[in-house]
Amino acid sequence: MGVPDDIDALVDEARAAIAAARSTEDIRNVAALVSGKKSPLAAASRGLGGLEPDARKEAGRRLHEARTTIEDLVERRRTDIKFEELSRQMEDSRVDLTEFIGGSIAAPATRGHLHLVTQTRDALEDVFVGMGFEVAEGPEIETDWFNFGALNIPPAHPARGMWDTFYLNLGAPETTVLRTHTSPVQVHLMEEAVVDGGLPIHAVMPGRCYRRDTPDARHLPVFHQIEGLVVDKGITFADLAGTIEVFTTAYFGPDIHSRLRPAYFPFTEPSAEYEITCTICHGEGCRTCSQTGWIELGGCGMVDPAVFDAVGIDPDQWTGFAFGFGIDRCAQMRHQIADMRALTENDFRFLRQF
Ligand code: FA5
Repeated sequence: MGVPDDIDALVDEARAAIAAARSTEDIRNVAALVSGKKSPLAAASRGLGGLEPDARKEAGRRLHEARTTIEDLVERRRTDIKFEELSRQMEDSRVDLTEFIGGSIAAPATRGHLHLVTQTRDALEDVFVGMGFEVAEGPEIETDWFNFGALNIPPAHPARGMWDTFYLNLGAPETTVLRTHTSPVQVHLMEEAVVDGGLPIHAVMPGRCYRRDTPDARHLPVFHQIEGLVVDKGITFADLAGTIEVFTTAYFGPDIHSRLRPAYFPFTEPSAEYEITCTICHGEGCRTCSQTGWIELGGCGMVDPAVFDAVGIDPDQWTGFAFGFGIDRCAQMRHQIADMRALTENDFRFLRQF
């Protein structure tokens, strides 16, 4: 084959074929057609040999120009195609986070809410703040002294058995424990008040507690209490009973009855157990209340003078009362939850009811 007269036409044909390529595969095929071994361009180059030297030189220059132009067009189209393909890919995989897809493909996002125990803690705090109490907190890991010693429970005291817990750092340099109740926060507040001149005290202290209790309908090994402490002048058991009565009505409503029964706590004297009518069986007796019709919510009493002595408060000048209620127990009774273990099982069908 000779050198075509119209090399420009050859370039124009190649230009049209290159422009029509739409994919990487297209451009690869087109490149072979317009500049490969079997292309008109290659055939024309092979025809150069049959020309006179001058004509060969001129045709060779023009063919070289044509090849450069065609290869340049191929490269540019190849780059454009790559970009187009990438854009298409990104468009296809784009997720519009603002898009609402109704119906069967995606359900509308549901909004979470606070766990029932947290809601209960907040509600209890609200009731007590409304009665003039402040809210305080203390550490969950306590020294033996705060959890037991300062609360009139010396080593080997049998009451330690009731509040057996997880011991950390046993013996050295100071034994620490996962606190078994929120009562040690009383000690922190009283010690701070002695240092800062912060008496009187009217405070509630919510928080998590730990015990070696086997989980059952009314017990968890990790649970929550809200402690109350009042230290003031002239405080009597009547103030304690009145406070508990006002709390019971405010939190559980006027239909729920409460009672205080004599009890023993080493850090209060006299002491009482605070119970309300079981809201599951309304006093009839059921599995949750061990057939008694009553549920114990907490303990309470007048601050024992031995505790005042331990923290450096003069028991002849100051008197006070304290209480400690189970927050999980309050949630259980307020919402008639037969088994407390449901609070920790994270079953959404249960939790979303509250
Ligand atoms: C105490 O813990 C005392 N510190 C309460 C107290 C404070 C008495 C201030 C006097 C003055 P008790 O061990 O009875 O007492 O626990 C109090 C309440 O915590 C119980 O009535 C119950 O509501 C809750 N509670 C105790 N153990 C558990 C448990 N394992 N799971 C869930 N709730 C519990």
